Amino acid sequence: MIPYVPLERRSFRLHMGLRPLELSRWLEFDEDAESVLALRARLIDLERARVVALDEAGLAPSEELLGVLREHLTRWHPGRGGPPGSDHPLVEAARLVEEDLCVMVREDAWRLRAAVVCFPSRWDLREKIGATLREIHGPVPGYEASLGDPVDAFFDRIGEGRAFWRLNWTLLETPELFVPEGARAAPGGDLADWYFRVERQTFRRLPESGAVVFTIRTYVARASALAARDPDFVEVLVDQMASAPPAMQAYKGWAGVAERLEARRRASSRPDR
Ligand code: HEM
Repeated sequence: MIPYVPLERRSFRLHMGLRPLELSRWLEFDEDAESVLALRARLIDLERARVVALDEAGLAPSEELLGVLREHLTRWHPGRGGPPGSDHPLVEAARLVEEDLCVMVREDAWRLRAAVVCFPSRWDLREKIGATLREIHGPVPGYEASLGDPVDAFFDRIGEGRAFWRLNWTLLETPELFVPEGARAAPGGDLADWYFRVERQTFRRLPESGAVVFTIRTYVARASALAARDPDFVEVLVDQMASAPPAMQAYKGWAGVAERLEARRRASSRPDR
């Protein structure tokens, strides 16, 4: 079962939702770690052009990140360090952890300069490398107006030795972790066919280069299992999806899903005649 179900009992809102994070909790390993690490290694080897993107400007911060990450593993996850390899330092780092890793460098604006993203949720890393935060989020409805300035300011202000985290979720038709593309069409079928996908994202600054490391940890659970565990799950899910603006519903691939779920919920709670 997944450790986070970030559904709020309120209308949908586009917000940063950042919380301070204790550095000891920067990275997470769970009982699936070995299979996830094996999948990551396979994707790096077989799909390298789609999961690894590296600019020259990302090399020094990636070397710094590998050192910071190894120290972190030694201290908080002993036994997870692994032997040194000869690949790019970000790829070495990404082979050791369940998180995807992105290195953001401050130039004219914050730009993505190195990334290993094995588990994208319907976006293409090749289109994002070198892009600014605003360009990366170009397809996200409302980002420019409500999040553009606050996110840029947050990146400028992240203090050394501090970390932050946020959660993001969506519904997909597949439990696959590597979803590099796909129509943003609403999932077909019903709750029993859907998967609730959560991203736990963290942010921290590297002390020497000043670059910001953005990590994405992806968790997936059957929506029906979450509904069985929490009797309010479907109701809150419906409220969240139905209250999102139409452009956001289209972007997330939710159009019509809330109505379908709500109709089913009403039908199943109607007393038998
Ligand atoms: C505080 C910082 C950030 C906030 C508040 C934020 C917020 C968001 C939001 C609201 C979305 C829409 C997706 C959804 O809700 O499911 C999104 C998508 C996305 N974000 Fe961020 N984000 C942040 C940082 C970053 C960083 C540092 C990267 C660097 C790689 C990034 C990469 C993306 C990508 C690739 C997408 C998908 C865009 C697409 O559909 O093409 N985000 N982000």
